Amino acid sequence: MRILYATSEAAPFCKTGGLADVAGSLPPALAAAGADVAVVLPLYQKVKERFGDQLYFECYDYVDLAWRHSYCGLFSLQRDGVTWYFLDNEQYFGRPELYGYMDDGERFAFFSRAVVRMLGHLKFWPEVIHCNDWQTALVPIYLKDDGVREDRYRSVRTVLTVHNIEYQGRFNPYILGDLFGLDSGWAKDGTLLMDGDVNLLKGAILCADAVTAVSPTYANELKMPYFAHHLEGIINKCDYKLSGVLNGIDMKLYDPETDPRIAVNYSAKDMSGKDEDKAVLQRMLGLREEPHTPIVAVVSRLVSHKGLDLICEVLHDMMELPIQLVVLGKGDRKYEEFFHWAAQQHSGRMAVRLDYNEELSMAIYAGADLFLMPSKSEPCGLSQMIAMRYGTVPIVRETGGLKDTVQPYESWRESGNGFTFANYSSGDMLYVIREAVYLYKDYPEAFGRLRQRAMNSDFSWERSAQEYLRIYAGITGQHWAPPERTEEPADAETVPAAPAEQPAEAAAPTPETAPEAETAETPVPEAETAEAPAPESPAPAKPRRRPAAKKETKKKGTAAKPRKTTAAE
Ligand code: GLC
Repeated sequence: MRILYATSEAAPFCKTGGLADVAGSLPPALAAAGADVAVVLPLYQKVKERFGDQLYFECYDYVDLAWRHSYCGLFSLQRDGVTWYFLDNEQYFGRPELYGYMDDGERFAFFSRAVVRMLGHLKFWPEVIHCNDWQTALVPIYLKDDGVREDRYRSVRTVLTVHNIEYQGRFNPYILGDLFGLDSGWAKDGTLLMDGDVNLLKGAILCADAVTAVSPTYANELKMPYFAHHLEGIINKCDYKLSGVLNGIDMKLYDPETDPRIAVNYSAKDMSGKDEDKAVLQRMLGLREEPHTPIVAVVSRLVSHKGLDLICEVLHDMMELPIQLVVLGKGDRKYEEFFHWAAQQHSGRMAVRLDYNEELSMAIYAGADLFLMPSKSEPCGLSQMIAMRYGTVPIVRETGGLKDTVQPYESWRESGNGFTFANYSSGDMLYVIREAVYLYKDYPEAFGRLRQRAMNSDFSWERSAQEYLRIYAGITGQHWAPPERTEEPADAETVPAAPAEQPAEAAAPTPETAPEAETAETPVPEAETAEAPAPESPAPAKPRRRPAAKKETKKKGTAAKPRKTTAAE
């Protein structure tokens, strides 16, 4: 299977959020499962600065976007069994930041146009292009547009992954022809028009052969107005091709046993290092060195959908509990000011750092005991998984990926890997925080077992990669065989994350199926229907890794020797 993964960011090259983590680890997992995978992303200034000397210049071409005729360079790099392509255009991407410019619409229209234009220069003609969020939403649209004239574009199937539906790529319809080079038919038939705007995400949801959300619960939530930011009608209409696939995390990068970023390494079998990490964290942040006081941590962007209002409402009640509180993050001024002020009221027991700081965040994952994430909505969320991996027990609200990754603690049958609450209510949150704190203080052994279950949760990418391969097979009409199961029973110590919901059969619409106008009624399912798969479902045996079909290819010459010009030059 030949997959081209189109994204506007990917770790370790360039990152502003969770999309980069996903784009950095899913493609290698697909390659490890046997697919032939390439990733394409813009050659930002930051990438040029940090990786320029490792990039190979492949070729260049010109890309037509409406009346513009612009240079596009193609650079590549081999890594983790994947070919990473970078599209170069100094005018659009030679800037200090990834996003936030007034011409972002034009920049990513150029990028999407260039992805389609440069297909013939890549190492393969892809069977599937996997797009992500609004920045690459024009790819399925351009493929349909070009497919009318050229057969070869019709053979390419598309998947769109929605990481956060809040960001839709909305523009004045006036610029449809001038900026995106599309004729007015795309607006008139309703494919791209939404509330008077051109809406790229809407267009891509209609045009893609399969649509995925980053967790099964989020896929269901997207059908409801509360979560869908006006796109619920379209999502319901496309339910037949929608599925939720839970993200994973890089289990090697985030491994407390080997992680060089934390002060003392430890593992589920020997937790002594975590006590030392806790003492280090307390010293680092000026907290009292109290080994038996649980540290509750918040590592988050300080924005409203992260549920920070709940924390603000009951912060002083929380601080009546025997806890220490650590907050790391930056964002909206009102939260920054509040946390700064609160830390002064509780000095020695509360520490706040208004920053995005990877080193400190790792020290917190390692040194804290409880990880608080009361999000209003959370498509998937990665930090709760990282926290669990480091034995920091999560306290989350049951929404999106939080619901799919954290199963509530039940003392009577020793199950669960964290604490959860359902309603967006500060009282409910406080109740479970109290429950968690007293389990820690009064029943340390039970807390220890809960911590072990959190650490043993399986968030590896292999399972999700198989889900995606199944979706690709569905839309290309190829055979997909689930990986062979090992004979021996699943590792009893490994708690699998809630398995991703079986998505509706992703029927491949024929290229002739023109996207229909936006006429869908909006059936609003009741909130209760958004059930995540039962956490109790039996543990699936760990899939045995298939040997990669293609080992890392040393492409045209040796990887060590730059071939022609490098981006740095
Ligand atoms: C977005 C979502 C986040 C998700 C990430 C990766 O940033 O807000 O919940 O984990 O994408 O899919």
